[in-house]
Amino acid sequence: MDWNILFFVVFPYLSLAACVSVTIYRAVYRPFTISSLSSQLLERKKLFWGNISFHWGINLVLLGHLGALLLPKGLTLWNGEPLRLYLLEATGLALGIWATAGMVILLYRRLTEARVKVVTTPMDLIVLGLLLLSGVTGLLTATVYRFGSYWFTGVFTPYLLGLLTLQPNTALVAPLPWIIKLHVINFFVMLAVFPFSRLVHIVAFPLEYLTRPWQVVIANRQADRLSANQPSANPIHKP
Ligand code: HEM
Repeated sequence: MDWNILFFVVFPYLSLAACVSVTIYRAVYRPFTISSLSSQLLERKKLFWGNISFHWGINLVLLGHLGALLLPKGLTLWNGEPLRLYLLEATGLALGIWATAGMVILLYRRLTEARVKVVTTPMDLIVLGLLLLSGVTGLLTATVYRFGSYWFTGVFTPYLLGLLTLQPNTALVAPLPWIIKLHVINFFVMLAVFPFSRLVHIVAFPLEYLTRPWQVVIANRQADRLSANQPSANPIHKP
């Protein structure tokens, strides 16, 4: 049994198929389940620090990954100057630390806040665990096997494009150290878990906000004041 074929060809295709088919099924037959239910009312402070760090950090890191996949020549040109390479690597590392710190806060919050624990499902913990594994193995890759932005374009760009064009080439990834392999395999695990977890909320990203007409929100303070003076009409002001 060639483990590289199993983990870097068979498994990626299976997880991609599960990800796409189950996500479409949910979007068509269970549209209102596509969400990441908020727990902000149960705890705010840790959510603020964890969520902002995690989302900004991870989105920028993944944008960097996407750039390496889609613009390999531009990246190679950019990295031709050592100072620019160091700048890019330091920025990637800082963003990776920021995102991973956010994940730690979010996981800690789910494990320790009594009110949040009640609404936390096993899948929430699995997702946060997998994300943390992505962050830690990514940071290890960036620090132990340095200058990933330089060698990504020679290894992962052709490997991923090969997968996408149905011409997978395991020779590119087979010789890699196990920590880097774990980083990539973990991505495919997350792809498989995606439609069964709150990660699915990503497909509900409200892109129409960019094009829809202005919405004017007017606070009706007059009505607020009136209801405040009539305790029976306002459930918050019950005697
Ligand atoms: C959910 C998906 C993924 C997450 C959350 C993730 C996260 C991270 C993080 C936090 C870092 C460290 C910060 C950095 O240097 O940019 C990193 C680095 C890295 N990741 Fe990922 N990653 C993901 C998927 C992948 C995939 C699919 C590949 C390759 C096929 C990959 C290859 C790399 C490489 C080569 C580095 C080192 C970059 C460097 O040294 O500059 N990652 N990743």
